[in-house]
Amino acid sequence: MMEEEILQLLRDHPSTFLSGEEMSRRLKVSRTAIWKRIRHLRSLGYQIEASTRSGYRLIHSPDLLTPSEVKPLLKTKWMGKVIHYFNSLDSTNSKAYDLATHGAEEGEVVIAESQLKGRGRLGRKWFSPPYLTLNLSVILRPSIFPQQASLITLMAAVATAEAIEKCSGLQPLIKWPNDILLKDRKVAGLLNEIQSETDRIHFVILGIGVNLNIDERMFPKEIRSIATSLKRERGEAVLRKEFLRYLLEELERWYKVLLEEGGDAVLTAWRKRSQIKGKSVRVTSFGETLTGIAVDVDSSGSLILKTENGERKRVVAGDVEYTNKAPISKQ
Ligand code: BTN
Repeated sequence: MMEEEILQLLRDHPSTFLSGEEMSRRLKVSRTAIWKRIRHLRSLGYQIEASTRSGYRLIHSPDLLTPSEVKPLLKTKWMGKVIHYFNSLDSTNSKAYDLATHGAEEGEVVIAESQLKGRGRLGRKWFSPPYLTLNLSVILRPSIFPQQASLITLMAAVATAEAIEKCSGLQPLIKWPNDILLKDRKVAGLLNEIQSETDRIHFVILGIGVNLNIDERMFPKEIRSIATSLKRERGEAVLRKEFLRYLLEELERWYKVLLEEGGDAVLTAWRKRSQIKGKSVRVTSFGETLTGIAVDVDSSGSLILKTENGERKRVVAGDVEYTNKAPISKQ
């Protein structure tokens, strides 16, 4: 906490030195304590010039996702106003779930620079190496029925795709149910978890993982040919705190659209990005494999499939593989 305050003081005096004495007076701690914190901040990548006569001056800040780096950029009304920041966690979703169970409010977010047990859909692992990704979980408390919870996932997929586009100029597509792709490779994924009663949602944990600055060779072999990052696709690293800012802003905007205008507005935006309609697909769902043509995604987020024998099937969860990329017929 004191480090945040030291940074704030230094930021408030961008072009002048601030003496150790002045800082120790303002923060009511010894000069040695200030010096120790400055030394730690330097180890995190802050360039802080020190002059024996004049004091300290902040020269450069690293691209960390700490509240003190992110908050000055953030233009949201309520999303991300409380940031629970961790250098490392097992999973931001687990932490957010725990916080929400103990009363954390809508819009509070959990961020970890790395995850030791990052979770993906269907029990998979999520690769989250330090300082190269965004690992975010948002606590939401929407007044909608539990049956409509998948709309939150669709909304978050749209917001994530829009944030990627705003930050990089690239145009991601969404692959059902919620993979975000750039040139057919996965750049981001969503894992939403809810706690509810039959007719009331207590909270939703919106978990979003984005591969920002991972180089291709860093990905584990099993996913190297199917994963990508923003850095790889655009040819240069992104400023992670700027991406986070865009993402929180888009989430706030699209959540409002969902609550005020309803699911159709979100579905329209989702469909534009998904391009799944008319595609020939193979879907694996609960151990069963279905093939057919994707007709649409309904208002509950389920995939409507026309199977080879002409039957219509509603698929609630699963994995999709495109077996023929061109649209086959109009449905
Ligand atoms: C998937 O595509 O399988 C979903 C991946 C979701 C990963 C994110 S990273 C932040 C949050 N914490 C987790 O443990 N998982 C989600």
